[in-house]
Amino acid sequence: MKVPFVDLKAQYSSIKTEIDSAIQAILTNTEFVTGPTVARFEEAFAKAHKVPHCVSCGNGTQALHLILWALGIGRGDEVILPSHTFFATAEAVHLAGATPVLVEVDEKTYTIDPAAVKAAITPKTKAVMAVHLYGQPADMPALKALCDAHGLQLVEDAAQAHTAAIEGTPIGGFGVAAGFSFYPGKNLGAYGEGGAVLTRDEDLAKTMRMIRDHGMAQKYHHQVWGHNYRMEGIQGAVLEVKMKHIDAWSDARRRNALYYDEYLRGIPGIQAPVAREGYRHVYHLYIIRSERRDELMEFLKERGIASGLHYPIPVHMQAPLAEFGYKQGDMPLTERICDEIVSLPMYPELTEEQIRLVCETIREFHAS
Ligand SMILES: Cc1ncc(COP(=O)(O)O)c(C=O)c1O
Repeated sequence: MKVPFVDLKAQYSSIKTEIDSAIQAILTNTEFVTGPTVARFEEAFAKAHKVPHCVSCGNGTQALHLILWALGIGRGDEVILPSHTFFATAEAVHLAGATPVLVEVDEKTYTIDPAAVKAAITPKTKAVMAVHLYGQPADMPALKALCDAHGLQLVEDAAQAHTAAIEGTPIGGFGVAAGFSFYPGKNLGAYGEGGAVLTRDEDLAKTMRMIRDHGMAQKYHHQVWGHNYRMEGIQGAVLEVKMKHIDAWSDARRRNALYYDEYLRGIPGIQAPVAREGYRHVYHLYIIRSERRDELMEFLKERGIASGLHYPIPVHMQAPLAEFGYKQGDMPLTERICDEIVSLPMYPELTEEQIRLVCETIREFHAS
């Protein structure tokens, strides 16, 4: 039995009729860019996260850039973010013209460490980007208290955490705004690129709606500089259908994580993920740690089990960050995490039998 890393075909098969007719409707009504279907999706997405405004856009990177742009964060400003994240979090800061300030993550949960954030605040700091990495919310209560005390904007990078929650409150409304990605492999995935911002701030939502549409409040009346960050109608149609299933899919991911936790228990040399008490982790990725990570990945591959690396190189060691003086050795914890993590197959349709096989293979490796 082979175990793929993700299986987008399995999900499509389960909703084929609904998806095909939703796409067909767009071909017929020709609402190819934004339009009523995209607006309905925005409403459903906002409602699911109990946040009043959703501004859809072309992808998650645009969503994060849109937030910083609309907040007026730019040249001379510093934005604090974790070094352990996908590169796009830092890219959004660069696109806004601001300076990325990278910090360590918490050793157990891999989310930004509030103590490291506190130590990195300078008079130039304007915002903190909290990444809900792998589907687990960052420590938002601590970050919110810190940002409020220092007058900083708190932005959520929620690209991997659709419908995750803290003590029953969905992510998306803890800071000034939250950016989401609908890249196909995400917990809520488009059939192409897609992204969105959630915010409680009506004026900010209005500004973002203008920026994403060439700065227009009214056709051909350009109020501000903008860009073309609009969502396509077909993606809105796909996402509207998928919204009906997101809770079931998130529950399936959480169930699969429990199977992994159970079958991995007692394997020496393996560290399973740690979910914070009271937090709803939606397991975009299921990450384990092993000091023999590279050998383990090879062993799994030889037995038909796919695995991944999220991410092999910390942001502070990526080439474009050298201009800020970052180098290897600056963040020992993040560097060690990146050397030891491996992502196991994780998607809603994954079966208990497949998970048991993955875990037995890992057990066999560690017995050798
Ligand atoms: C944490 C994080 N931030 C931002 C992004 C950017 O999203 P997109 O690929 O849709 O631009 C991603 C997507 O991979 C991500 O994982």
